[in-house]
Amino acid sequence: MEKYVTTPIFYASGNPHLGHVYSVFIADALKRYWQLKVGRAFLITGTDEYGQKIERTAKDSGISVKQFVNQKSHCFAELWKKLKVSPDYFVRTTDDNHKHNVIDVWSLLTRSGDISLGDYTGLYCVECEQFYSEHQLVDGCCSIHETPVIQYSKPSYLFNLSKHLQSVLSYIEANEDFIQPENYRREVIRFLKESDQENLSISRTDFQWGISVPGNNEHVVYVWVDALFSYLTAIQALGGAKQNLANTIQVIGKDILLFHGVYWLALLSALKFPFPEKIIVHGWWTLRGKKISKSNPSSLIQPIDLAGITTIDGLKYSLLVKKPLGRDGDLTTKTLVETINSGLANSLGNLVKRCTTLISKNHQGLLKTPDKLTTYSEQSIALIAETDSLLSRLEKAYQEAQLHEVCFLVDALISSANTYFHERAPWNPKDSNPLDHAVETLQIICSLLHTISIVYSPIIPNICFDIRRQLGIEERELVWPGRVEILEFVINKPESVFQRIVYEGTK
Ligand code: MSP
Repeated sequence: MEKYVTTPIFYASGNPHLGHVYSVFIADALKRYWQLKVGRAFLITGTDEYGQKIERTAKDSGISVKQFVNQKSHCFAELWKKLKVSPDYFVRTTDDNHKHNVIDVWSLLTRSGDISLGDYTGLYCVECEQFYSEHQLVDGCCSIHETPVIQYSKPSYLFNLSKHLQSVLSYIEANEDFIQPENYRREVIRFLKESDQENLSISRTDFQWGISVPGNNEHVVYVWVDALFSYLTAIQALGGAKQNLANTIQVIGKDILLFHGVYWLALLSALKFPFPEKIIVHGWWTLRGKKISKSNPSSLIQPIDLAGITTIDGLKYSLLVKKPLGRDGDLTTKTLVETINSGLANSLGNLVKRCTTLISKNHQGLLKTPDKLTTYSEQSIALIAETDSLLSRLEKAYQEAQLHEVCFLVDALISSANTYFHERAPWNPKDSNPLDHAVETLQIICSLLHTISIVYSPIIPNICFDIRRQLGIEERELVWPGRVEILEFVINKPESVFQRIVYEGTK
């Protein structure tokens, strides 16, 4: 069955930054893994374009709101192109298909008796587009934006949240892998158990920039409700049905956990729609201890400038390997470059280079599996066994979205392969049958590199493509598991698949 992998849709109020890139890289890697695994996987991303905050920012910039969001949305789409990420669907909340979807959902909720018109009073952060209770504030300010909240009391449509919290709680308790990592699952459970929230305010009357509530033009749909249903808009636009939510993996940052783990699920429960397959929660990248965000300009490194130093695969690899999924991590270009040089240049790149150079020099560029080679040496058998056992551990890590673990596992295998290569010294065989010794060694390494070029392709697709090209392997649709017998490797011109990065900066 096909898989869908979603990122949050990004606010079209500012330019994309490294935090957004991180969400997209995780989702892109998961999509690519599922593509290998099941043959049909879709990556969904997009932009969140309505709401008071965007309306205000657009007005300040002196162009129409629609022109403003068009520009911002375009910046996101362009960045994904430059970073060689190809979403299968890019959803925009100002698109007509999305509007129709939201109107349909609203009508269903009205019919099921889950929406009523009332008043909503509370403390509201315009930046977050969210209400807070007194105890969630820090000195009267929202803890994320550190800006004062406003007292808000307005007529509003209310969603009967409390009616659905128990079924959400039961589901999350019964499904241990549903929200990962575990600490975030516990956070949602705690919230659900302690929540005394009756209703969720799901419409606004003090601005116009939104989808009008069906039958009442005074109200626009609360931007979070509108945004959450963009996931369904995208699945449907890809030809899927709402049942496909059940095979959808949703990648989100920890700051939007409650919207997904509580409100989204409660809305789905009210609609009797399936829940997503998994919610994968990641932590933040910080710069000198401050969350990278558009409201903190000193934290902004242009992703494309950074990729100019690290390469695209290098950036993806280092962001994924440097930080366990759920935690926060402080970023410096210097440590990213060191990580990349050690993992991709010294370890993987070096192995490819040494192996292909030797085949080219000593074997006329052609390495055939010899017919008479029926038994491998103990060393080779041990490396094959290590590769086999790695494959199942890798699958588990991919399926749990533990991408830093994926990198550690593959990097460990590359390191074993380098040791094997070094110890067997196929350039200088010592045993009585030198040709077999060299051929066996190179054969084992080429097969292993081929496997790596498949199982590592979700993380470093461009390097993996180059490895297969270097080994003369015809490009065809990749499938998991990677251990496929290739009968001959043809090396035309050994080239480096990853050059060491020279970075002179100190940060
Ligand atoms: N529009 C909402 C999401 C709606 S989804 C139905 C939103 N947008 S956002 O642009 O503010 O953030 C999108 C994602 O980027 C969030 O998952 C957030 O965690 C992530 N990141 C923003 N800054 C980040 C870092 N500094 N580090 C890692 N990810 C962070 O929220």
